[in-house]
Amino acid sequence: MRDYRYPRGADLQDRVGGFYKWQDLRRSHGMWPFSRSTEESPSTVTAARNDAGGKFRGVNFASQDYLSLSVHPAIKQVALDVIHEFGVHSAGSAALLGNTSHSVKLERKIADFLGTEEAILFPTGWAAGYGVIKGLVRSTDHVVMDALAHTCLQEGANAATRNIYLFRHNRVDECRRWLEKIRSTDTTNGIMVVTEGLFSMDSDTPDLPALQALCHEFDATLMVDVAHDLGNLGRDGKGFIGDQGMLGKIDLVMGSFSKTFGSNGGFVACRSREIKEYLRFYSPPCTFSNALSPSQAATVMKAFEIIESAEGQQLRDKLMTNILSLRSQLVEAGFEVYGDPSAIVCVKMGSEGLARLVSRRLPDAGLIANLVEFPAVPKGQARFRMQVMAEHTEANIRDAVSALRSAYGAGRAEFEERQADFGSDAAKQVAA
Ligand SMILES: Cc1ncc(COP(=O)(O)O)c(C=O)c1O
Repeated sequence: MRDYRYPRGADLQDRVGGFYKWQDLRRSHGMWPFSRSTEESPSTVTAARNDAGGKFRGVNFASQDYLSLSVHPAIKQVALDVIHEFGVHSAGSAALLGNTSHSVKLERKIADFLGTEEAILFPTGWAAGYGVIKGLVRSTDHVVMDALAHTCLQEGANAATRNIYLFRHNRVDECRRWLEKIRSTDTTNGIMVVTEGLFSMDSDTPDLPALQALCHEFDATLMVDVAHDLGNLGRDGKGFIGDQGMLGKIDLVMGSFSKTFGSNGGFVACRSREIKEYLRFYSPPCTFSNALSPSQAATVMKAFEIIESAEGQQLRDKLMTNILSLRSQLVEAGFEVYGDPSAIVCVKMGSEGLARLVSRRLPDAGLIANLVEFPAVPKGQARFRMQVMAEHTEANIRDAVSALRSAYGAGRAEFEERQADFGSDAAKQVAA
């Protein structure tokens, strides 16, 4: 994918064709497992089509719906009721008339849940991640970020300043070194330190108290993306911020509703009305994009209500039981999994060629799981990202592991055969 990021040529439209040619070659070999579409709700078992039209059905570990709330009856009912009352659209930016009574209540709810003074909504989590950095950081300021931070954070930093410093994943000591270096020559401009509560490809977590203490020491601002852990992990669903005793203590918390809360949308929680109002009018994806629809805001509000109830705790317990079962069955089957137990269970493949050959077989084997490869992860570290839901059953998990094992066995055999014959054109195509 990276080879086509900077195509050459004067014609902006003509020069993109190389990507399609490469993609279509993969498609013609059944090795383009992206841009698929569901034909039913994204439940634990679903039917889908690949982008060449081929239909398949299987246990679904490729959807992001950790507490299974997107199909929860009470959530669906709220969405329907609010559509009847408000229609389907916010019909405006949140800086104009796009707020609704539902979104106003939701902002208050998020702030209370996280123990912050204020919160502000964004149309998506991506917009919130990009927008909080672009909204606050100016060209003379600095961004110090974990090297594996999500693309929305990297794009926000790139759009805001050229002064970007990456520290190796979760390395607080390296973050400190950058802060020391910056402050040794610049005491007048701002610094934002950016990380995630739970990393979406590695399923691990930084030391948040240590990072926040560093930020206090060097007059910097900490920004933590909690897209993957909020609502579904930790005591009361407060994620790693709660688990690490940091509720109300992180400078800026940014999140998404798209993994746990059954809706599109995102937010930034912050310590003052001043910051909220500034973001509303200086963070372009908030100011110049339509606000969440009323039914989305009401859906997320209902999701919070469930998350805070006894049912929410049961769903989190069920989710963790599923996570632990999937991880242990995968390990028993001989696979290696990344990181700590969370709803993201990444299964190591390594070589992209091997991963693609396995991926090609997954639909027939009855498993829907996402292939992740370079540049989303480093070269040679391809993996399958399996995302667990509370409503997965033990049988779903057993079926998934058995499907992966059979696809892996056959994929590995073909991979080894092709490697032995590596000079051939076919092998070069697989490896490309
Ligand atoms: C860590 C992280 N932040 C932000 C986002 C963006 O969230 P959304 O899907 O709401 O745009 C994602 C989703 O892929 C993510 O994984």
